[in-house]
Amino acid sequence: KKVVLAYSGGLDTTVIIPWLKENYDCEVIAVCVDVGQGKEMEGLEERALSTGASKLYIENVTDEFVDEYVVPTMQAGAVYEGKYLLGTSMARPVIAKRLVEIALQEEAMAICHGATGKGNDQVRFELTVKALAPQLEIIAPWRIWDLKSREDEIQYCEDRGIEVPMKKDDSYSRDRNLWHLSHEGLELEDPANEPDYKKILQMGVTPEEAPDTPTYVELEFEKGFPVKLDGQAMKASAIIEKLNAVGGANGVGIIDIVENRVVGMKSRGVYETPGGTILYAAHQELEYLCLDKQTMAVKNQLAVKFAELVYSGEWFTPLREALTAFMDSTQATVTGKVRLKLYKGNVIPAGATSPYSLYDEDIASFTTGELYDHKDAEGFINLFGLPLKVRAMKMQQQGKQ
Ligand code: ARG
Ligand code: SIN
Repeated sequence: KKVVLAYSGGLDTTVIIPWLKENYDCEVIAVCVDVGQGKEMEGLEERALSTGASKLYIENVTDEFVDEYVVPTMQAGAVYEGKYLLGTSMARPVIAKRLVEIALQEEAMAICHGATGKGNDQVRFELTVKALAPQLEIIAPWRIWDLKSREDEIQYCEDRGIEVPMKKDDSYSRDRNLWHLSHEGLELEDPANEPDYKKILQMGVTPEEAPDTPTYVELEFEKGFPVKLDGQAMKASAIIEKLNAVGGANGVGIIDIVENRVVGMKSRGVYETPGGTILYAAHQELEYLCLDKQTMAVKNQLAVKFAELVYSGEWFTPLREALTAFMDSTQATVTGKVRLKLYKGNVIPAGATSPYSLYDEDIASFTTGELYDHKDAEGFINLFGLPLKVRAMKMQQQGKQ
């Protein structure tokens, strides 16, 4: 009997290995899925095996994560509750998908994860498993065991002579990947408190600490896909990595949000998404040039739904797939270059060009233009205003005005 465990090498997933073996009498296949968390993988195999796992897979899916999850979500313009760029949310389905693939290959009976019973991550992992391999069982130890704290977990390890990966850790609860780094807990749990940014930030600096001179970046997109940074062709993951560095250095992409979790509670987090914030901004600037009014309006409405689906773990659903098909269709002309100025936490547009730009200087200009006849506006406004005028006249006749 085998169980596939989503493994990071941290305290939670270390405790789970002996716990699974004791309670399910099974072999534990540990899987560490790399989505660009930048963590040292060295020594991980030894740690997994010495704790009782029979095998460790290290799977780098960073490019799949970026190309098939991050970029489509960015193209959709999806932002959860007006602020959150969905960094943790997007990573869960790609991680769970890889776990499922390995579970099927290993003929495992279950998938186990270390997410708590209070959070979103359990929902995202489990919806993905249900959608891709409904026959697999799901084991969520945090909803089963009676360990309550890190101290309990450390005790559990010590009782079994298992080396604890790190001693007392009284820092924030963090989740990192190439797109973002989240921070929850400690002083953030009271929304009245200003975040202690000096202790929190790891991807960059505060706007106050950023340089006094701006930095310019130029991004190039092809059909909504980022293809070049400052004139250099690179894969999207490399673009994000470089944007993280320059964005972080300029204090860009720090957000502080009280959000609504899927399980009903509000929670407060600080998220760093320096590169992502720049990429969203650049892409949107190009859409301002290239999308017609109606398409843009409907796209913006659907973006809200797209964000909800991603947040709630509903990636592998017919609606998310249909929305992606719509978004994809809108990207056909989103090709061109965008320049941005990064300055003390701000991302300021500094010019955009596109071969498919719908902007016409001749039409828009105050001084020139043959295509646009000022006189046409009169008839247009007469018809456009007809219902308002008729209603006002009727009300006058009825003595109501
Ligand atoms: N609240 C954010 C979300 O739901 C971040 C969650 C961070 N997850 C974690 N395991 N620390 O997407
Ligand atoms: C967790 O509970 O595992 C992390 C927080 C979340 O999933 O929202």
